[in-house]
Amino acid sequence: MNAVPRPQPPPAQGSRLAALNDWVDQVAALTKPDRIHWCDGSEAEYRDLVAGMLADGTLVELNQDTHPGCYLHRSDPQDVARVEHLTFVCTRERDDAGPNNHWMAPAQAHETIDRLFDGCMRGRTLYVVPYCMGPIDSPLARCGVEITDSPYVVANMRLMTRMGAAALARIEREGAQGKAFVRGLHSTGELDPDRRFIMHFPEELAIKSYGSGYGGNALLGKKCHALRIASWQARQEGWLAEHMLILGLEDPQGETHYIAAAFPSACGKTNLAMLIPPEGYRALGWKVWTVGDDICWMRPGTDGRLWAINPEAGYFGVAPGTSARTNPNALATIQRDTIYTNVAVTDDGQPWWEGLDDRVPALDWQGRPYDPANGPAAHPNSRFTVAAMQCPSWSPRAEDPQGVPISAIVFGGRRSSVMPLVFEARDWTHGVRVGAAMGSETTAAATGAVGVMRRDPMAMKPFCGYHFGDYFAHWLSFDRPGAKLPKIFHVNWFRKGDDGRFLWPGFGENMRVLEWMVARIRGTAAAVDSPIGLLPEAGAIVSPACSREDVERVLQVDAAGLPQEQTEIAQHLQGFRPRLPSPLV
Ligand code: GDP
Ligand code: PGA
Ligand code: MN
Ligand code: MN
Repeated sequence: MNAVPRPQPPPAQGSRLAALNDWVDQVAALTKPDRIHWCDGSEAEYRDLVAGMLADGTLVELNQDTHPGCYLHRSDPQDVARVEHLTFVCTRERDDAGPNNHWMAPAQAHETIDRLFDGCMRGRTLYVVPYCMGPIDSPLARCGVEITDSPYVVANMRLMTRMGAAALARIEREGAQGKAFVRGLHSTGELDPDRRFIMHFPEELAIKSYGSGYGGNALLGKKCHALRIASWQARQEGWLAEHMLILGLEDPQGETHYIAAAFPSACGKTNLAMLIPPEGYRALGWKVWTVGDDICWMRPGTDGRLWAINPEAGYFGVAPGTSARTNPNALATIQRDTIYTNVAVTDDGQPWWEGLDDRVPALDWQGRPYDPANGPAAHPNSRFTVAAMQCPSWSPRAEDPQGVPISAIVFGGRRSSVMPLVFEARDWTHGVRVGAAMGSETTAAATGAVGVMRRDPMAMKPFCGYHFGDYFAHWLSFDRPGAKLPKIFHVNWFRKGDDGRFLWPGFGENMRVLEWMVARIRGTAAAVDSPIGLLPEAGAIVSPACSREDVERVLQVDAAGLPQEQTEIAQHLQGFRPRLPSPLV
């Protein structure tokens, strides 16, 4: 029988999984790449990718004496952050995506974005990137394959995930048992903001992203898979996929309490995850271990506790503000083998950003001679990508396939007024309400205005792959017989005085708040009831870096601002009717 020959790209190496090979063939037929490369995740492959990017200018070498293995990528100036207005959740039923997501019907979404993908890889290499989110042998881990035409994305995926041969082997093994992997298709396209979409198809376990190379839009294992698709799967399967750091707080008795904390993007997760306790605490034996800095997957164990893994293997951290004073662990982590994106450069080729030190950079993030008239030298959302295990505080338990048991969940946002430094929810249901009511001022991590207060439930507004009403109900469902749920707290490191300065010193000093939480968990600290929840007793939290008046102010709820806060929260929650669960009405 004579089949009509159809133009075929050069033969691929392929996998042992027909479903994967067929999908790669289909994508190649649509995107028409010159070459196909199946990534094995090896060191040699990474070196080749870097060499290619240095040759074509995608990467610039930084000072190899001070920063060995470090490179700088300058993105398109119009492609520097997540694009929430171009991000869609494409469920069959519109209501399933909820008022918290932009929605498009799946057929229309595929058609719209496939038109952009048609022929977009001509002259380019199609990379097949198998990855595993979570320790490769963990029952909580999930796999995906990202197809991309961006070597920058491949290199970042190698730092951020377990990428390559081991992931492919797991995908093949699971595929043979009928278990699907998440399919992510990505192209940088023309980097035209008018030809850009980030589409999610939770019912198909599929993602399509076109027109951006920025981390949150293009590293599909991260926000697209590990939060939007995973949150959908988690609801079906009885677990949680959350925008949370995970840290282990070791006390002087040698007991480690694991804490998960959800703050919106650029509101302090990476810093808290890598906290170094003040000297006095260190002398007593307190230590913080970093399990994860952005995403947490957790499920109830047979003991009734929530067990959590960090699905990622690297950090994609905010550069500005990172310094030897604020986050020495991060600074130590990024001295070598790091990809910097959109930072400034000193005259001797070192990476630089606002808040690092008092040197004056030579070039700004766009590669222009630095001129303060052009704004900050580093883009406010400039980032570093680096392997997690390079962090001095990296927890060995980050590789534990069973995860770590969570003792406390912390919600928090960037609130210049009203919200106090810390309070505790009265119980799980109240804690879910506190999370659902969360507000925060917007940051440079997403395009749009910065510093605008908005509601961001559980820091998941941009990341929940389904209706928030269903999501809150799912959270409430964990409170059932036999459950040993963590305590829930709310923090605010960003309360400001009338003069506009932060009242609380933050960073390492946040240890004092963590200590109070541990004391509450152990039952050794009292608390005072208030309209919003349980507050520390007067004098329970003090800091040598904060005046007595400032501490007093920061620990208090702003009574004058509370009525409006409560009105806003009520209005916000009404927006999820009729799916709003009754305990939150
Ligand atoms: P993430 O995006 O949630 O991981 O947030 P980061 O930890 O990267 O922090 C984002 C920005 O907030 C950086 O510029 C930090 O320096 C700053 N930041 C983090 N923690 C604190 C804090 O406790 N107090 C203050 N004032 N700023 C903080
Ligand atoms: P972040 O991660 O939370 O560390 O800022 C990136 C993002 O959320 O866009
Ligand atoms: Mn994040
Ligand atoms: Mn971070």
